[in-house]
Amino acid sequence: MKIVVTQTIPEKGLRVLREAFGAEAVLVTSQDGPIPRAKLLAAVRGADALLPMLTDRIDGAVLDAAGPGLRIVANNAVGFDNIDLTAARARGVAVSNTPDVLTETTADLAWTLLMAAARRIGEGERYLRAGQWTCWSPMQLLGMDIHGATLGVFGMGRIGQVMARRAAGFSMRVLYTDVNRLPEDAENALGVVFTDKAALLREADFLTVHCPLTPDTRHAFSDAEFAAMKRTAVFVNTSRGPVVDEAALARALRSGEIFAAGIDVFEKEPRVHPDLLDCENAVLIPHLGSASLETRACMAALAASNIVAVLRGGEPPNRVA
Ligand code: DGY
Repeated sequence: MKIVVTQTIPEKGLRVLREAFGAEAVLVTSQDGPIPRAKLLAAVRGADALLPMLTDRIDGAVLDAAGPGLRIVANNAVGFDNIDLTAARARGVAVSNTPDVLTETTADLAWTLLMAAARRIGEGERYLRAGQWTCWSPMQLLGMDIHGATLGVFGMGRIGQVMARRAAGFSMRVLYTDVNRLPEDAENALGVVFTDKAALLREADFLTVHCPLTPDTRHAFSDAEFAAMKRTAVFVNTSRGPVVDEAALARALRSGEIFAAGIDVFEKEPRVHPDLLDCENAVLIPHLGSASLETRACMAALAASNIVAVLRGGEPPNRVA
């Protein structure tokens, strides 16, 4: 048995695999950062299962390099836009992801970014550390109130719903849009109102993005969308970078078309558009949505348990293809 784990994952995940198949079956290909493509192609040869990261592009070439014994690709992420599902289906390879275990943690982070951007926490911290703070002033670093404002949720899946639930604690009105509308009782329970994208852009004081990356959502936020938002709006993205046109976001932040942004994911990670790096009113962090000790351990264990299920002849609990 050969199981290729492309980067070091928490022990909880490795333990699931080692206990099921023995330590010698588990090959961790990189201790530190993504494995280069050529090494990945070589390392997967003869694998029965792959446990890749969202930074690994798993396409037909990788699946063919693994060979006909490959049974499952268990992505160590809830998003699976790094995997060519058509190529996997064509080769009879199952694909799974890690839903649910990271929902609350990612929502924690999205709220962190929302509040940090609204209240200018990054700017304030840089100002203080630079020794520029000489005294309290009534006009200093004024931000936006969160309580009582309107939250716009773009993509009302698991994470979007948790965002909405928490908004009640801030007495916020919550609008959302999605390709699928929630059933009426779910909307009522969450206290959310369905609307179209145009109204969401027009009315949201805070707009938070929680959709998957698909051909339809690529650059869902570009010049026209930022122009349609309030000049006081705060924009948050913890989904996937290419959902947002980063150059357009930087233009909107610079020109004051929107007030601020909190961004966890980028179009060409780990590169960040230089214009965005120059925006004082952007809080920028390196794809940390699910990055808590507990959640990363649970993600690894869940990915591993999908592998165990398939290699023992069963159905992966989190199959996406
Ligand atoms: C995911 O799981 O898709 C997240 O982006 C990782 O934090």
